[in-house]
Amino acid sequence: MKKNLGVKAAVYPLPVLIIATYNPDGTANAMNAAWGTVADTNQVAICLSHGHKTVKNIMERKAFTVSMADASLVKESDYFGIATGNKVEDKVKKAGLTAVKSEFVDAPVIEEYKLTLECEFVSYDPETEFMFGEIKNTLVDEDILLESGGIDIAKFRPIAFDTLNKSYVVLGEKVGNAFSDGKEIN
Ligand SMILES: Cc1cc2nc3c(=O)[nH]c(=O)nc-3n(C[C@H](O)[C@H](O)[C@H](O)COP(=O)(O)O)c2cc1C
Repeated sequence: MKKNLGVKAAVYPLPVLIIATYNPDGTANAMNAAWGTVADTNQVAICLSHGHKTVKNIMERKAFTVSMADASLVKESDYFGIATGNKVEDKVKKAGLTAVKSEFVDAPVIEEYKLTLECEFVSYDPETEFMFGEIKNTLVDEDILLESGGIDIAKFRPIAFDTLNKSYVVLGEKVGNAFSDGKEIN
């Protein structure tokens, strides 16, 4: 048996992306965004409401960083989704995290996040509210980096946003091999 739930953006998993930008006074702002994905091998696409401080900051500096939240930073990541830089000064400092300047773009890197994409602004459509960014560098903590160049997901423990239950869940268990397991079906 299945049940109709009506219109729900029930996609699993939704990421917990932390978008960091510089405020006009040089302090760092960060917001939580679940409606984001990759749009090409070197592009991100994130649906960002135009009223957010983040959008204003990106339009000024033409840059932002996108970090993947992990289980050790749930409280801080959720805070970035409920407090706005339009009202709260220096959100990143208030959350007790450390912002350093990206080497590649005019945006802050929040040191405590283990995986960060450093992006240059490409475009923003006020109608769809989709922001596109070009990835200029991918910064990763060596602690979670495998010799193969991949990421140790079990160690990283990235979180996903569970929209129907309004909760965060941890990802990490490997259940298959991509571009490979499907070959068993002929
Ligand atoms: C789990 C979660 C997911 C969110 N996803 C998005 C999103 O994809 N797009 C968006 O515009 N706002 C999203 N928000 C809301 C913003 O993070 C929130 O309004 C934030 O205060 C904006 O910060 P800013 O004004 O400092 O940029 C989300 C909030 C939470 C808690």
